[in-house]
Amino acid sequence: MRPSGQAIAHESAHLHVSGEAAFVDDLPELAGTLHAALYPSDKAHARITSIDLTNVQDAPGVFAVITADDIPGQNDCGPIISDDPILADGFVQYVGQPVFMVVADTYLNARRAVRQASIVYEEIEPVLDVRDAHAHGQYVLRPMHITSDATAAASSEAAFSETGSFRLGGQEHFYLEGQVAYAAPREDGCLHLWSSTQHPTEMQHVVAHCTNRDANQVVVEMRRMGGGFGGKESQSAQYCCLASIAATLLERPVKLRLDRDDDMVMTGKRHHFEYDYTVDYGDDGRIESLQLQMLIGAGFSADLSGPVATRALCHVDNAYDLQRADLSAYCCKTNSQSNTAFRGFGGPQGAFASEYVIDNIARNLGLDPLDIRKRNFYARDAAVTPYGQTIEDNVIHELVAQLEDSGDYRYRREQLRAFNADSPIIKKGIALTPVKFGISFNVVHFNQAGALVHVYTDGTFLVNHGGTEMGQGLNTKVAQVVALELGVAVSQVRATAADTSKVANTSATAASTGADLNAKAAQNAARQIRQRLVEFLVSEYGAEDSKIRFEQGRVLFAKRSMAFRELVEAAYQARVQLWSDGFYKTPGLHWDREALRGSPFYYYAYGAAVSEVAIDTLTGEAVLLRADLLHDAGHSINPAIDLGQIEGGFIQGMGWLTSEELVWNAQGRLLTHAPSTYKIPSVSDCPTELHTRLFENSNVKDTILRSKAVGEPPLLLAFSVFFAIRDAIASVADYRINPPLNAPATGEAILDAVEACRRPADE
Ligand code: MTE
Ligand code: HPA
Ligand code: MOS
Repeated sequence: MRPSGQAIAHESAHLHVSGEAAFVDDLPELAGTLHAALYPSDKAHARITSIDLTNVQDAPGVFAVITADDIPGQNDCGPIISDDPILADGFVQYVGQPVFMVVADTYLNARRAVRQASIVYEEIEPVLDVRDAHAHGQYVLRPMHITSDATAAASSEAAFSETGSFRLGGQEHFYLEGQVAYAAPREDGCLHLWSSTQHPTEMQHVVAHCTNRDANQVVVEMRRMGGGFGGKESQSAQYCCLASIAATLLERPVKLRLDRDDDMVMTGKRHHFEYDYTVDYGDDGRIESLQLQMLIGAGFSADLSGPVATRALCHVDNAYDLQRADLSAYCCKTNSQSNTAFRGFGGPQGAFASEYVIDNIARNLGLDPLDIRKRNFYARDAAVTPYGQTIEDNVIHELVAQLEDSGDYRYRREQLRAFNADSPIIKKGIALTPVKFGISFNVVHFNQAGALVHVYTDGTFLVNHGGTEMGQGLNTKVAQVVALELGVAVSQVRATAADTSKVANTSATAASTGADLNAKAAQNAARQIRQRLVEFLVSEYGAEDSKIRFEQGRVLFAKRSMAFRELVEAAYQARVQLWSDGFYKTPGLHWDREALRGSPFYYYAYGAAVSEVAIDTLTGEAVLLRADLLHDAGHSINPAIDLGQIEGGFIQGMGWLTSEELVWNAQGRLLTHAPSTYKIPSVSDCPTELHTRLFENSNVKDTILRSKAVGEPPLLLAFSVFFAIRDAIASVADYRINPPLNAPATGEAILDAVEACRRPADE
């Protein structure tokens, strides 16, 4: 089987389905293992005036009660700025903030003991709303601005101008495996840590800092996550630190696994956004300028909000030439969970803004939104983004044209208008939305990766690389790439646990760059081994360098051929090094963090989706009837995995924009803290008709096998569902009114918007 471009199964699929795949909580426990639980703050903003933990201490099975004072090193686990206390130190900033930790003989004893605390708070007025925070000038970071070079003539004479506001909610990650860390003391002050994390190296660093260790005393191992989705890029840190602190103080292995409700209450989510805009546009619907202010709900600390806001600013344009853009982002500090990375990393929130504005323009002009979208697309050549990057790979025109055709957009639009005319209660809507998503970390130095490839004398491979497997199929792709380099079967290559003692100084597996970076690093390692084998064949067998081919588990040279395994055994006997490290760094990136200008992205990934929905105007219920997805994964390394990422991203995005609503009460307590109140999509929410295709394209940049990153961009395909719902609502007022619909478009929100559209029509 040709290892690249083949739709082979995920390397762990057989383990996932049989239940054999081991996650951190499945590891056999070491003798003497203790279990930790955390006390979540009851108040959103308060000073702790007294804290009585005697009953906690005396509860059955308790070994230790640990507070901020007991932390051996620094009480901070922030990824960029030191504003993330591991345990609250006399002061709490959101409901759910861990105040102290109990370590007990069992998980349940630890959880029961936590509840015996009595804490007296002196409350401080919390700030719970981003607009309040903005009014008070309360931010976790300095405001950010991007203004495009005003090359377009500054005609303040645009035919139309509109000013407005809208909102977009956050999103709970809902990884199936919650946050968990398991720390075991090792000899000479060392520590071994198993963590469900996207960022083993960062976990190594924060643990070293809070326990006063050197980096070489901490090993972090991560075989697989049961999903991360960005929620374990930085926010696995707190639990790694806590388990490690307890293990250090008690000299025992300690496991900390959050209960689902605690996980939802304690951890940050996708950032919610509030937008205020003024758009000038011509009578053809072309945008002439967009002025946009984004108020971003950062929560109580900075976490990754800086790079998230940067990515949001760099995605407002989506696939559109905004001519003149004046964009600002404010990371508002509120007394709530510290919001964090979530699939798209601010990109979806940025792009949503121009989609919303364009949707409005189309209805204002009485034209089809798809036509207005197309008129605003970046030109094929020489287009420059507001942040100054020249787009060299624009395929949105042909991609959208293909989908418009294969998705029967125009025909269905007509059909649906006819249907709506005859259907007073059920209304249908349709929308086609594009995606352009920038690939690379917007912090240049993160765009590097390392790998370690071993070939054993039986001809099998073991691969370590800096990336982490979270279900996205990274290990499968890396194995395919290594197999291809040496012409062996993928089944001969095993990619295994990320381990900071094997590959050092790794970046988070994030920004969709997992395969771009790590498969390149592994390829580099494999090529070095191949080169040594070639040299061996030349010197030992007189083979001619250019004639040597590695294929189908054999090596062919001149008229000879030998099994790869035979070659490896002979090379070993001749003392040829059969393992190698590898390294890769993305070329050509530059980014000025102060000016927010440069070329932060190596390339762009494109896609588009058409969604058709039906809504019930009496109940607000919405159903996605059909979706057609066309996505650009470049020359796909593994179409099966890529199609899975595309459909998964789309459905996850649909959940975010429709049913997943986060609700906090007036005291700042998250009410939607369990699956009973927080509604993620289920199988029955998937459309009965779902057509997913890869757009035939080869990356213009020299990426791994000319593929494109696919992890995050498809999430934005779900815009089509939201705007199809909005289209269905608009039909109530004969498409003359822009429905006042914010995201998520829950049943209640749909019903309210339907009512709002009916009101003026009835008058
Ligand atoms: N797919 C699965 N199954 N589980 C995940 O947690 N995370 C997404 C995406 N796809 C995720 C996923 C996010 S947020 C990112 S950044 C990428 O995968 C990370 O992996 P990659 O860079 O290897 O694509
Ligand atoms: N994505 C995810 N994580 C990041 C990024 C990004 O673009 N930049 C810095 N950390
Ligand atoms: Mo993904 S949000 O970059 O972990």
